[in-house]
Amino acid sequence: MAPLLLAPLRCLPWLLALALGPAALASEGSRPLALQALGEAEELTEELTEELWRAGLPGDLPELEPECRRLLAAFADCSAALTGCLGRRARPVRLCQNCHLHYRRLLAQYGHIVRAVGNSSESHNCAKSILTSDRLQIVVTLSEFFNETWEAANCANCLKNSSEGLSNSTVEFLDLFNKSLTCFEHNLQGQTVYLSPNNYTEVCKNCNETYKMLNELYNNLQRLNRGGAESGHSSHLCIDVEDAVSIS
Ligand SMILES: *[C@@H]1O[C@H](CO)[C@@H](O)[C@H](O)[C@H]1NC(C)=O
Ligand SMILES: *[C@@H]1O[C@H](CO)[C@@H](O)[C@H](O)[C@H]1NC(C)=O
Ligand SMILES: *[C@@H]1O[C@H](CO)[C@@H](O)[C@H](O)[C@H]1NC(C)=O
Ligand SMILES: *[C@@H]1O[C@H](CO)[C@@H](O)[C@H](O)[C@H]1NC(C)=O
Ligand SMILES: *[C@@H]1O[C@H](CO)[C@@H](O)[C@H](O)[C@H]1NC(C)=O
Ligand SMILES: *[C@@H]1O[C@H](CO)[C@@H](O)[C@H](O)[C@H]1NC(C)=O
Ligand SMILES: *[C@@H]1O[C@H](CO)[C@@H](O)[C@H](O)[C@H]1NC(C)=O
Repeated sequence: MAPLLLAPLRCLPWLLALALGPAALASEGSRPLALQALGEAEELTEELTEELWRAGLPGDLPELEPECRRLLAAFADCSAALTGCLGRRARPVRLCQNCHLHYRRLLAQYGHIVRAVGNSSESHNCAKSILTSDRLQIVVTLSEFFNETWEAANCANCLKNSSEGLSNSTVEFLDLFNKSLTCFEHNLQGQTVYLSPNNYTEVCKNCNETYKMLNELYNNLQRLNRGGAESGHSSHLCIDVEDAVSIS
């Protein structure tokens, strides 16, 4: 801050010279004062530029306290890890299954910052400054984005309550889905060109059990999700499962 305040003061002679004009200053010595002033002005401009450069942008705030800087850096690292995971698992969609841990870490880190706001110790100002002191509020914006993405993906609907991995009913569903597909493929082998009604019947007879179970489990899952819904729109299966069975 200090150099920025000093700089204009040191510019004063130059400003004076310019304000008085060349005529008023041309009386002195071998070198006209106006020229001398211009030369000085150039030097001062250079100096000023350097000082500004060294001081950082106008309005640059002092460094965060170490503890707060650590909070912010940890959040940044978690964001980067989660973003990388979401991107890598975008296709085929496996983000609920694979990014769950990253998401939980990010929530925890955001929680640390939020809790620090209520701390009456010195980190009070720091956490507050991370969360609310500028127009963008990147930390809040990022956290909101991840929350919305996670909710839109309905990940909670097919993950185990508090550990990584798909819930049992989801695993069962995918297994039945696989069995049904395999059964269909097996029974339709070599008949893709022409399917007689009899052959259809054959498939239905052979695969009806798995298919019926699959259907029941699917309805169960939807009912379950609707029943335990904290938010109104979670009657969908999670995106991983939707994508696996192409029902999205
Ligand atoms: C409050 O901040 C101090 C110093 O940063 C820290 O030691 C303490 O654990 C914090 N308390 C809570 C409740 O977060
Ligand atoms: C994101 O969700 C978590 C858990 O539900 C919540 O604690 C946090 O406040 C949310 N973040 C934002 C920015 O709303
Ligand atoms: C996980 O399950 C426990 C007990 O079954 C419950 O108390 C807790 O709220 C659940 N957590 C979540 C995030 O659903
Ligand atoms: C899920 O399956 C595992 C292994 O098959 C089993 O040990 C566990 O008890 C099951 N959990 C629930 C909630 O059914
Ligand atoms: C079904 O399961 C088998 C054996 O576990 C596996 O080889 C196959 O890739 C699975 N098919 C699908 C569509 O997931
Ligand atoms: C099923 O289709 C195959 C080939 O198209 C045919 O040879 C076979 O007779 C059919 N089976 C029945 C039960 O219609
Ligand atoms: C499934 O097929 C078996 C054998 O063909 C039959 O006995 C049973 O009634 C069928 N079930 C349904 C629900 O169609």
